[in-house]
Amino acid sequence: MINRGNKNILVLLFLVTVFCVYNLVIYTHNDRENPIKLNSDALRGQQLWQNNNCWSCHQVYGLGGYLGPDLTNIYSIPNKGPQYIKAFLNSGVKSMPKFEFSDTEKDDIVAYLKYIDSTGYYPNYEAKFKATGWVELKYKNEK
Ligand code: HEC
Repeated sequence: MINRGNKNILVLLFLVTVFCVYNLVIYTHNDRENPIKLNSDALRGQQLWQNNNCWSCHQVYGLGGYLGPDLTNIYSIPNKGPQYIKAFLNSGVKSMPKFEFSDTEKDDIVAYLKYIDSTGYYPNYEAKFKATGWVELKYKNEK
């Protein structure tokens, strides 16, 4: 005969098992194979982005500081792009300081922003919620 205490333990065991299986499925499932790696220019650009705290004022994919605009797609927005980015680095604007970058450093930052632009969209209006709890985003570099 199953008394109340045993029943509670069975329910608990059932929930723990479901929790474990759920986590196993979620954390061992990899649907993003072969992510594109940053090339060396973009890697240097990423370092400059971090060392100069661009992220404290700017966002990528909506994450970062909110003094300046999101720069996820700055590279491909019509009438913006490489020259536009460099102009802002040369002159600064409002609370954004003027940076004394060399031409190579500016190219590296542009390479980094180009890479970011190639990976996705922000805002991403085509996000879908999956039954697993993950959000499926539309990426640019996926078929
Ligand atoms: C102290 C805050 C701050 C920091 C640090 C900063 N920015 Fe900015 N940035 C801004 C603000 C504010 C704007 C202008 C927003 C506007 O025009 O209304 C801006 C504008 C820009 C723009 C033009 C965006 C557009 O859509 O017109 C680019 C590109 C840019 N920043 C790149 C950078 C990069 C790269 C770095 C790091 C090397 C950097 N910023 C660091 C505050 C900052």
